[in-house]
Amino acid sequence: MTQPTQQSGAMTLTDKFGRPMRDLRISVTDRCNFRCTYCMPAEIFGDRYEFLPKPEILSFEETERLARVFAGLGVTKLRITGGEPLVRAQLPALIEKLVGIEGIDDIALTTNGFLLKQMAGDLKAAGLERITVSLDTLDDEISKKMSGRPYGVGRTLEGIEEAVRVGLNPIKIDTVVQRGVNDHTIVDTARHFKGTGHIVRFIEFMDVGNRNGWKLERVVTAKEIIGKISAEFPLVPLEPNYRGEVATRYAYADGTGEIGVIASVSMPFCGDCTRARLTTDGRLVTCLFASGGTDLKSLLRGGASDEDLAAAITKVWSNRGDRYSELREANTNWSDKAAGKDRKKIEMYQIGG
Ligand code: GTP
Ligand code: 5AD
Ligand code: SF4
Ligand code: SF4
Repeated sequence: MTQPTQQSGAMTLTDKFGRPMRDLRISVTDRCNFRCTYCMPAEIFGDRYEFLPKPEILSFEETERLARVFAGLGVTKLRITGGEPLVRAQLPALIEKLVGIEGIDDIALTTNGFLLKQMAGDLKAAGLERITVSLDTLDDEISKKMSGRPYGVGRTLEGIEEAVRVGLNPIKIDTVVQRGVNDHTIVDTARHFKGTGHIVRFIEFMDVGNRNGWKLERVVTAKEIIGKISAEFPLVPLEPNYRGEVATRYAYADGTGEIGVIASVSMPFCGDCTRARLTTDGRLVTCLFASGGTDLKSLLRGGASDEDLAAAITKVWSNRGDRYSELREANTNWSDKAAGKDRKKIEMYQIGG
């Protein structure tokens, strides 16, 4: 088993493939005010759906304590996710706690933007640095279909404006692309944000979980996406900002900004995957496509010391051999079986991407 080593003040804990643990994605709620067809389809997540009961949810104190232990093991970046993180009551109070953790140099949050207008100021004041907003199209009717709610995109756009006003920069826009659903609107989305300083990242539809009806035919590859956009606005490739960045970057040739593509299906990036995930109920998950996770909450509530928690996390990460997306591509010849339909996978709303 690989042991963590101390290097220039920070721990370097590596997994079976030598990948360090650098990012922690913290899901703060399994609830959401949207019902995106590819994540929480309304026919499954109806009024009677039972989300986690309160006692199962990590308190802010518990989340902070775990985040500190992760930071001690080499994590430098936190991303707050959900479900929809802004539906978690008093979220800014958690941000305030996380900002103070030694070793954390980047805190971001991914939101659908519906509650952003009213919360952007408090989030910024609490110390949040930047946000990513999920917005799949600018077309109201398509948006209603994709988000499973009759709202349209107006409130999300107002939320983005407010985030700019309070200085939550840079803003990234995540756009999941599905063939026959919103792929004909991606050039409009690119045009809308071109020149604003916001970075749109077009995401290949992924086979996360078992319930989102993933089909290979629905995946629009990064190559196709770039082809469509560059036909209208010439693009030039950019170097990654950092090793392991999930998005492949392109700049508009006329100097009006950049976009990205997240090609988890057609160009897997497991080789550099440094991301750990913490579920709302305190499980440590080592891959977006994992079947389950390791229960840290029971340890925490059972009186474990920070050292005990660090040892448990070290054990899990040292044994980590996940590379689901690479195996999907290598083994399965792009058939539907590749989506692991016969294998139980954790759902997107439990880990927030
Ligand atoms: P930056 O820190 O701004 O570079 O953001 P990020 O790319 O780490 O985070 P974000 O939450 O915006 O992720 C964008 C999309 O990439 C989401 O749809 C995620 O589901 C997807 N994604 C993030 N991490 C992984 C990963 O490890 N594997 C796969 N397959 N997809 C991922
Ligand atoms: N494929 C690709 N992206 C997805 N997201 C949610 N489900 C999927 C999926 N099946 C995106 C959301 C959000 C981010 C957290 O993950 O749109 O931007
Ligand atoms: Fe909610 Fe995000 Fe899932 Fe859509 S993708 S249902 S906004 S958690
Ligand atoms: Fe990381 Fe798993 Fe995504 Fe590969 S599939 S990049 S191992 S989260």
